[in-house]
This record gives sequence, C-alpha cells and structure tokens, in this order.
Amino acid sequence: MLIKNKSQLFLLLIVVFFIPIGCVQGQLGKDNGGEYHNGMVVCAYPDAAQVGLNILKKGGNAVDAAVAVQFALAVTFPAAGNIGGGGFMVYRSAQGETNTLDFREKAPASASQNMYLDSAGNVIQGMSLSTHLASGVPGSVDGMVEAHKKYGKLKWEELVQPAIDLAHNGFKITKRMAADLNRETAEFKKLNEGKSYLLKDSLWQEGDVLVQEDLAKTLERIRDKGRAGFYDGIVADELVDEMQSGKGLITKADLQNYHAIWRKALIGRYKEYKIITMPPPSSGGVALLQLLQSVEKYPLSRWGFNADSTVQLMVEAERRVYADRSKYLGDPDFYKVPVDSLLKPAYNTSRMSDFSWDKATPSASIQPGKFVAYESDQTTHYSIVDHDGNAVSITTTLNGSFGSKIFVKGAGFLLNNEMDDFSSKPGVPNMFGLVGGKANSIQPGKRMLSSMTPTIVEKDGKLFMVVGTPGGSTIITSVFQTILNVLEFNQGMQQAVNSKRFHHQWLPDLVYIEKGALDSTTHAKLEQKGYKIIDGGPGGRVDAILKTKWGYYEGGADPRGDDTKLGW
Ligand code: GLY
Repeated sequence: MLIKNKSQLFLLLIVVFFIPIGCVQGQLGKDNGGEYHNGMVVCAYPDAAQVGLNILKKGGNAVDAAVAVQFALAVTFPAAGNIGGGGFMVYRSAQGETNTLDFREKAPASASQNMYLDSAGNVIQGMSLSTHLASGVPGSVDGMVEAHKKYGKLKWEELVQPAIDLAHNGFKITKRMAADLNRETAEFKKLNEGKSYLLKDSLWQEGDVLVQEDLAKTLERIRDKGRAGFYDGIVADELVDEMQSGKGLITKADLQNYHAIWRKALIGRYKEYKIITMPPPSSGGVALLQLLQSVEKYPLSRWGFNADSTVQLMVEAERRVYADRSKYLGDPDFYKVPVDSLLKPAYNTSRMSDFSWDKATPSASIQPGKFVAYESDQTTHYSIVDHDGNAVSITTTLNGSFGSKIFVKGAGFLLNNEMDDFSSKPGVPNMFGLVGGKANSIQPGKRMLSSMTPTIVEKDGKLFMVVGTPGGSTIITSVFQTILNVLEFNQGMQQAVNSKRFHHQWLPDLVYIEKGALDSTTHAKLEQKGYKIIDGGPGGRVDAILKTKWGYYEGGADPRGDDTKLGW
C-alpha cells in the first residue's frame, strides 16, 4: 500500500495498532447474566474478569480486585495488559472520597530532548516505537504496590497469585488473541533473537493453551518481594541486561528511583453530574472537562444521538480542545500546565463562539487558545465496583499493541514504547498523529503526556458511572461520547458502549467515523459543510459500569474486543 500523506499514515496506524486487538463487530462481551447488586468487574479479557470477580466474592474491595486484574491482564492480554508499562487509577470510595494514582512511565535519566533526531534534526522513524530506546521506566508494579498499601484489604500475595496460576498453568486463548499472536509472530522473531515468548511452531488457534513460565517466575518474585521483586534483584538485573543488549537507557538507578504519585483528582461538573477524572500528566481529564463545558449549553438530547448538529458541535469542540492539548499539556512536575485557565467555563464557551453552523472550521484557522492570565496523555481499561460501592477506574498501557514488542529475556514480559507519547520534535506527529511542543518535550525523569481518561461520574452525591477505554488519541473522544450517550441520549450502559463512535483531533483535519456511525443523510450534510469524513476509526474498547436508578449495576463491555463483564 502506498502512503501518500500523513492522514493516510495515521489511518494505517489506527488500523495496525487497534483493529488487530479485535475491532471486529458483532461479538458481544461475555456476561454472567442478571442484575448485580454486590459488585462488578468489566475488563478486556474473560479470565482476568473472572480473577477480579473471585477477589470481590472473597471479600476483597475494588482496589484488591484491581490489583489482581492488573496482574491477570499482564498474563492474559499481553497486547496491553502489563507489568512493563504504566497507567492511571481514579478512585472513589463508597463515602465519596476521591483520589488518583499516577503510575505513568518516566523518561530514563539519560534521555534527552533530541534523542530521536538525526544529525539534520529530523525524526528517525521507528526509533521511539520499536527499539530498546522506546521504553520509559515502567510504573505498573509500583502503582499496584502503592494502591494496595493505601486501600487494599486482602493480602498482597492473594492478589498476585491468580496471575501466577494463569501464567504457570496456562489459559485458553480466544480467536482474536490467536489472530493477534499470529500477526505479530514475524515481529516478535525479528526483535527478540534468542527468545521464544508468545511463539509457536504452527499457527495459534482458538482454544490453544498459552503457558508463560518466565513470566510466572517474575510474578512470583513480585508476589514474594513486592516492589523489590521488580525494581531490584533478579528482575531488575534482567531488565537492565536487556537494555544493555539493545543500547537502551534504563538503568538500575532509574528503576530504584521510580515512584508512582498520588495526585488530587481533577473534578468538574456537567449539568447535575460531578465528573471525577485524571489530572496531568494525562491530557484526558482536562480535555474531557473542556469538551463537556464546550457542549453543555446546547440541546444535545433534543437533537439526538449522532444527528448532524450533534456531530458537528462535538467535532468543533474536539478540534479546539485538541489544539489546546498540543500546546499546554505535559507533565505538571516539569511544565506549568494551565489547568485552571483551560477549565474556565467562559474560556471554553468563548472558544466555541467562532464556529459556523454552515461551514466546517478549517483546523488551519484554529490555534491553541490564549488566556487572559496564565494560571496557577495499546492500552486497556478496567472498571470495578465492590460490595460496599467503592469504585476504581484504571487505564493501563504499553502504548502500541504489545508495546515495543521487545521482551525482557529471562523475565518474560514485554517492554513499553511509551517514549513515543513525548513530542520528539515540535509539530511532528507521533504514532497517533498527535502533535506537541515544549510542554511535552523529552526531559530526564519526565512523564510523557497521555490521553488516558479513567473517569468516575457521580450524581446526587452517589456513584453513577465508572468509565474508560484504550485507543490512543481517540480515548478522550470515546469517553466523551460514552458519557453523553448515557447523560444526554438516554442509553443504557451496554448500549452506550456499543454505539458507533466518531473522532476529530484538530490535526489531521479529518472526522474519523466508525463504520455505520452516521446515516447517509447526516454524512452528506456534514460533507456539504466541508467536513472531511474518513471511514475506519476510531479504536477504543470502552469498559464501564452504571449504577442504575433501580440500584443495581449495569456493565458495558465493549463488543469490539473480548471484553467481559462479570457481576454478582
Ligand atoms: N499511550 C497512550 C496514552 O497514554 O495516551
């Protein structure tokens, strides 16, 4: 296939990185049926959901179940579940206390701003994606240790053991997973000389049992030693040896210096709902709140789901918000992110004042906004609610599907390629077509900007929804649409997740639509106004839980993947 321009490249990347993880319509996520009053787990893989449910049933709380699901996904869903990556957790206790945990990867201490540029200052293609240099210092294990220390109820060992059992005894792979592994075989071989992880002599088939002995050993070390079982000792040695074998940067000191950070939840409102979401270094929470503010005063429910006015308004809001993202969002420990200014309702309303209902606003005419005063970002998501009503929303990632596709020899886990989420060079798009500048430039120890948007919604002071998704740059718009599907278009949780989605991100100036998202009349009306519409996107596997007005939980497990909802 000939790539003629950046838009086509972006579309190809969406297809390569996300469709393989199961963008096949029509297969509903698994569900144990019924109305659940005692708790629920919704995640990307059936065996991991079962692990979470078992923990809830034996008296574990939502954080206990989350820790167990994180490790179980590292075994059963290696495309994105991980111990070699990072993520974000948004927490809301049954009593309404909120908190977030940032276990995002960090640039190694010897990383530098121009590390992916050649001598002429051009980005070296692929260097931040599929080399040892692509990996940030992993945060997931420390994140789980910290989450458990603060909120866990069951013993750590009990939470890690189910993942060890899955790795050691093996589990049956789904049809999608067999296809994913077969697709990656050549890359795994090319990038992992002398290693034989996730490989088989013949093609993988649905129902094959996948055993991962080295990963089981690594998980045993984490079970027995906690943080030290990963950031110190044999696993740390193996990770650093792996780095040295491929000129990677992560050192023992980088591992020892990695710490997850508790950050105050970002809180906003949409009508009568309180939105509890992730602050920077995610761009997701800020962008979600900006988007909600941008559309709040318009009669969306009257216009209806995916009606032309609805789509036009949301696309114009997305165009403006992603322009802001490109300039103002980065790691708050390195760059003063103007969160307060970006979240002033008047600012977002004024940003929407210059669009015309008659004609698409060209992105070339939109620049990041200016403030009166400067005041003081393949991935997977799981949503969990426990018996008491504590809720956890976690999005975790290796970045691309199977991360860098490089395994740590001896330790059996995949390394992330999260460094690509930095801006390698101002204005040059990353894997997701996102551009950035100084705020998200590479610096030693800095966290790369993320789009992950784990979110919890409250109504009348009570838990209402737990939501999030993978999907790179489309994460923010998928969460935005899923929330509006329930709040404005009266959809139930599963319906809101199933509903077809669309996406705009300022640059490239295109509306990506999922097949069937727009009827032909709406499609034609938008094209007449100058919107360039492309079929094929977006990605995303939204996994969410709704507390219904009847008091039971309704899960939404994305039918685009093997996503599964289990309750009790
Ligand atoms: N690696 C995708 C994100 O964090 O946005």
